[in-house]
Parts: sequence; structure tokens; C-alpha cells
Amino acid sequence: MERHLCGEGDIIFWELMVERVITGIPGFDEILSGGIPKRNVVLLSGGPGTGKSIFGYQYLYNGLRRGEPGILVALEEHPVAVRIAMSQFGWDVSEYEEEGRFAIVDAFTAGIGEAAKRERYVVRAPDDFQMLIDVLRTAIREVKAERVVVDSVTTLYITKPVMARGMVLQLKRVLSGLGCTSILVSQVSVTERGFGGPGVEHAVDGIVRLDLDEIRGELKRSLIVWKMRGTAHSMRRHPFEITDKGIIVKAAEVLKEVREIERE
Ligand SMILES: Nc1ncnc2c1ncn2[C@@H]1O[C@H](COP(=O)(O)OP(=O)(O)O)[C@@H](O)[C@H]1O
Ligand SMILES: [Mg+2]
Repeated sequence: MERHLCGEGDIIFWELMVERVITGIPGFDEILSGGIPKRNVVLLSGGPGTGKSIFGYQYLYNGLRRGEPGILVALEEHPVAVRIAMSQFGWDVSEYEEEGRFAIVDAFTAGIGEAAKRERYVVRAPDDFQMLIDVLRTAIREVKAERVVVDSVTTLYITKPVMARGMVLQLKRVLSGLGCTSILVSQVSVTERGFGGPGVEHAVDGIVRLDLDEIRGELKRSLIVWKMRGTAHSMRRHPFEITDKGIIVKAAEVLKEVREIERE
């Protein structure tokens, strides 16, 4: 009789075989058994101020340091503001941009303003999703990007929610097809328990949720990996901190307290 089931040892072996992208975010790779499986498209969801953009910047900058080129699609902030925000954590991307190993796809300015004229990858009509896909595809090829962060996908479909699933699926085809391991930032409201809507949540390979909860008069940060195709991961809610060096996840700690909002 053939053996269809594999033993525990085989599973551990398979886990080791999965090609992974090391985020370099302290504590985060640990709770993912080593990193994000290559080509996964991960929804990074959370309310305002939970650290989504910082997480994305840190993921990209750590890639650059490891020789993995990256792209940030800026839909929420001016590219100049993004560079400034990154430099505040000591993540200076100018050298990598000059070498053509990092790029910001400007889907914010529509090419308007003096500073925008200096941008290399500009989506002239930010409402035109096909144009964004075309600019992104060109940027990925030229930069040979291995990591992509879209901040945020919510901006793409907030006024046309029925388009959300189709947009995310098309992004996934392009990103994964070109070999990138990607983070799609998803904005949810402070009280919302989900990750950005059913269409989007089911379309992605992974979901990580960042939270900020008031517990006994104090705001506490935590994150949870809800889903990650291709790997085992922690099922616990881990506290994390934002410092002037970026995010630090406490992989050995669990946030157990009941949330204030749920207790009311
Ligand atoms: N140097 C820093 N040290 C500690 N916390 C910081 C620092 N810079 C920013 N923050 C925190 O990060 C938050 C913003 O994170 P951000 O990634 O922009 O949030 P999001 O994109 O989820 O809205 C701020 O509200 C602040 O609490
Ligand atoms: Mg943000």
C-alpha cells in the first residue's frame, strides 16, 4: 500500500524547503517560522496609526540591505514625504534609488508640482488602475524588484468597493507572476474586526493584522498572523513596539488582555 501521509519529520523538512523572504523585522520572521514564503501577497491590515506604513518601509529597507531590490507604490503620501518618513528611522534610500535598486511609484501627485517632475515612475492618472499596473510592471522589471509594498490598496477602491476583489487579484497576478513577495496595506476603521472586506481577504495569500488597543488607559500595540499560505505560523497575538529604529515584535510574549472595546 502506498503511503500518502507524511510523518512529522517530512513536514519539518518541507517547511525548510519553502523559499522565504526574510523581513528582517525583529521577532516577525520568528513567528512566521523563518519569513514570508516567496511570491506570497500579504494583506497588512490595521486601523490608523497602527504602524502599517512603518512596517512596509522596514520590510523594503531590510531587503535593500540584503541585496533585494524593492518598490513602494505610494498612494497615500507624496514620494518626498515617504523618503523623509523613512529617513527618520535611519532608512536612507537615496543611494539605492540612484543605483536603480529602489523606486517609488508615484500614484499620489498625478505629476503635479515641481517635486513630482523629478519622479521617475509617475501614474499620471491615479484613478486609472490599468495605468498604475503598467507603470508598476515597468518599475518592477527595471528595478528587478523582489519586494513590493502598496500603501495602500484601500485607496484604489474606497470609492468603488465592487472593484476591490478584481483589483487585488490583478495585482496578485502581476506581483506574484514577476516573482515579487508583496505587502498590500489595507486600512480598516478603528472598531472594524475584519481585514478589508471579504473579496480582498480571500484573494490574498496571507493576512497580518496590526492593532492598537486601549487597555486600562494605555494604548498597546499588537499583531497577529491570521493566515499565511505555505507555512506554519504563530497563532498568538504578539505585542510589538515602534522605536526610532522601527518595529520590534515580541515573539516570546503574548497579549492576553481582553480588549476594552469588547468588554463594553
Ligand atoms: N520614532 C518613533 N518612535 C515611536 N513611535 C513612532 C515613531 N514614529 C512614529 N511612531 C508611531 O507610529 C505611528 C504611525 O505609524 P504609521 O506606520 O504611519 O501608521 P499607519 O500607516 O498604520 O497609519 C504614529 O502614530 C506613532 O505612534
Ligand atoms: Mg500609513
